[in-house]
Amino acid sequence: MTARLVVLVSGAGTNLQALLDASAGPGYGARVVAVGADRTDIEALARAERAGVPSFVRRVADFADRDGWDRSLTDAVAAFQPDLVVSAGFGKLFGPVFLERFSGKLINSHPALLPSFPGLHGPRDALAYGVKITGVTLFMVDAGVDSGPVIAQAAVPVDDDDDETTLHERIKEVERGLMVDTVGRMVRDGYRVRGRKVLIP
Ligand code: GRF
Repeated sequence: MTARLVVLVSGAGTNLQALLDASAGPGYGARVVAVGADRTDIEALARAERAGVPSFVRRVADFADRDGWDRSLTDAVAAFQPDLVVSAGFGKLFGPVFLERFSGKLINSHPALLPSFPGLHGPRDALAYGVKITGVTLFMVDAGVDSGPVIAQAAVPVDDDDDETTLHERIKEVERGLMVDTVGRMVRDGYRVRGRKVLIP
């Protein structure tokens, strides 16, 4: 059975593209059935359209309150009956309805080695601290900020002359590979969450 992925995006969508490319090949075990965004006019939505994948947009500003946005986003994603929901650069924190509905099947990627440098500026904060190695973390989303159980991590060296852009780009190259590899293993081999540990056989 081919697993159904819904991918949530807010920007360039290079991680989405990596998943689209991987799932076009035979034997990957998953396909992207829909792409959701919290804004319009982003390259990620153009990537979905070029791939012939349906997309939807739910902007917080179009709702009377955050609760309404949360419910609408939840319904939009649920309509595609995902086996996994992948937040790939999605720029909003999920609401409680969404978290409850997709608990255990919602994964996110963060451009730092959690629990170091959570939040919106992982590469910038790593540079400011002066670490020599940073990286990327795939994790199960919980109600906190970048605080859920770790699924997979990969290290990335920091160069002396890096700025935020060069470091983030080097991280993103590794991130795309980790995303494709880990999502593929999760859908093909299954996974279990045991407390803080995510086990892929
Ligand atoms: C990724 O590095 C993700 O971890 C971060 O934003 C970036 C999104 O990149 N939150 P893209 O839109 O997939 O190219």
